[in-house]
Amino acid sequence: LVAEFDVETIVFDEGEQQKNIHNCIRVWEELTHIGADRKSLIINLGGGVVTDLGGFISCTYKRGIEFIHIPTSLLAMVDASVGGKNGIDLGMIKNQVGTIRPAKMVVIDPVFLKTLPEDHMLSGFAEMLKHGLIHSDESWERLKDIDITEQDSIEELIWESVVIKDKIVSKDPFEDHIRKTLNYGHTLGHAIESYCLKNETRASLLHGEAVAIGLILATYLSNQLLDFPLKKMNDVSTSILNYFKKERFTEKEINSIIDLLVFDKKNRSGKILFVLLEDIGIFKTDQEVPNELIYRAFEYYQSL
Ligand SMILES: NC(=O)c1ccc[n+]([C@@H]2O[C@H](COP(=O)([O-])OP(=O)(O)OC[C@H]3O[C@@H](n4cnc5c(N)ncnc54)[C@H](O)[C@@H]3O)[C@@H](O)[C@H]2O)c1
Ligand SMILES: [Zn+2]
Repeated sequence: LVAEFDVETIVFDEGEQQKNIHNCIRVWEELTHIGADRKSLIINLGGGVVTDLGGFISCTYKRGIEFIHIPTSLLAMVDASVGGKNGIDLGMIKNQVGTIRPAKMVVIDPVFLKTLPEDHMLSGFAEMLKHGLIHSDESWERLKDIDITEQDSIEELIWESVVIKDKIVSKDPFEDHIRKTLNYGHTLGHAIESYCLKNETRASLLHGEAVAIGLILATYLSNQLLDFPLKKMNDVSTSILNYFKKERFTEKEINSIIDLLVFDKKNRSGKILFVLLEDIGIFKTDQEVPNELIYRAFEYYQSL
């Protein structure tokens, strides 16, 4: 391969803070310098930061050249590299600028996971749990008590997770309707993530760690508003807490998190809209939830 093609490598530091316009400019300039043209191919090898940023750079360089993803984190394998969303952050605002165009190919090799730190493994696993919950009882059952460090079982489940996301995205690439289901657990998950990030007294949470809490809260809201079966709600909570350690939030913190929800980009005209489930695999989008009930969801989470 190397003999037939000129392969150039562009490297940047790790971390979400790298997903910015300055790195795009640097890479656009390097591409120009090495003479990348419309026939060049960009290979994005790395976690979700690399696939998001690299996808965006590919979509904009010379008005768009081909790119493939080789995701190396679990989160990038089951989520970020699938579905065509590319983008960068604008200051503190995540994914504020971007494009929707899928990679020509996504190459997933679980061998990369051998070096992935355990907390990042779990973070990606939260998205797999979400895919299971929005898809079917069978998918959820397969996920809820596995050993995620066990190579063979995770490999099959990664495939299943990718297929679930891909099917949803193919039906609705621009998130007009069913793609919104991929936000299950994310409305509150995002608010919790942002709150912990901004608040010096709290350790920040990885995206998936916040989503795991969001999944429990959303399932409680689903039970209260759409009669999601109580037994399954308890099963969801217990199973998630078998993987993720429980966080504590004070009354003041819960109120601050609820305030932050208003800024969630998924909300229209200031109303807090959720994706909720009538049952595993049966969802309803654009559900309005009163603040009081969100507060009760946190009380439920604390009581577990
Ligand atoms: N485009 C989408 O649809 C979509 C969906 C979900 C998330 N995202 C984006 O993905 C990003 C998060 O992705 P992430 O969790 O992969 O973060 P990341 O890319 O920052 O990777 C997490 C950490 O793991 C390291 N890492 C990656 N692969 C490794 C490996 N094989 N061994 C050891 N270390 C490894 C990275 O260097 C980094 O320190 C966020 O920016 C988020 O917005 C995008
Ligand atoms: Zn997510």
